[in-house]
Amino acid sequence: MSIDYSKYPVPRMRHHTSPNYYLPHDRQQLGDADYPPLYTSLDWSQVFADGGAPELLDIGCGMGHFLLEYAQTCPRQNILGIEVRRAPVEWIDGVIKGEKIDNAAVVWYSVVNGIPFVASDSIERIFYFFPDPWFKKRHNKRRAFTAAFLDECARVLKPDGVLYLMTDVPDVDAYQRKILDAHPRFSYVECSDEQWELPVKTDQEILSINRGFGYTRLRCEVRKS
Ligand SMILES: C[S@@+](CC[C@H](N)C(=O)[O-])C[C@H]1O[C@@H](n2cnc3c(N)ncnc32)[C@H](O)[C@@H]1O
Repeated sequence: MSIDYSKYPVPRMRHHTSPNYYLPHDRQQLGDADYPPLYTSLDWSQVFADGGAPELLDIGCGMGHFLLEYAQTCPRQNILGIEVRRAPVEWIDGVIKGEKIDNAAVVWYSVVNGIPFVASDSIERIFYFFPDPWFKKRHNKRRAFTAAFLDECARVLKPDGVLYLMTDVPDVDAYQRKILDAHPRFSYVECSDEQWELPVKTDQEILSINRGFGYTRLRCEVRKS
């Protein structure tokens, strides 16, 4: 089931949003009233057609092609996209409704506030693909991948759950590995094309392939005890 994206014109949108949104709500400076909602719980019966909770998370889902196509490929699993920019969220929501992809949903939310609305031990797979690199040292604090982020991933993943990472930025890869190495609850392996078990590619992944950029894939397993 491929989606005819020409039915869903993409509005003009920026690569980044307000710098405040990349900081946790209690550390953002401007008291922006328009900060993404701080969900502590979500009523899944209003989110997914089967009334169940998500089993898959796509964090920083961008324009959502991976989310939408993964949902179609695995229709028995609910997948939730989490995205800090409002315009892609609205666009993805339009595609989900237009195509009636009942097992996909997306929320406007900044993951630097944790994911308290996701139950512990409930998630099979977390996808965290091609995060914004924030190259400049003074912008590093906008990176969402932190020890606290890994604590949240470890909390929500099921005992055999997996966190999948991809990046085409060597500095981001080294930064993420350092945080993973220091974290007591994750072990990881780098995957080749053959070892990568996911059936769908992300927009950034396709871009990297088309432009001949190298990129790294890590499969991170959680230790629950
Ligand atoms: C480079 S894009 C990658 C999109 C997609 N994962 C892919 O592989 O094509 C990174 C995405 O992460 C989103 N993002 C960055 N910081 C975030 C945050 N704190 N919470 C949620 N999403 C975030 C950005 O808005 C952007 O859409």
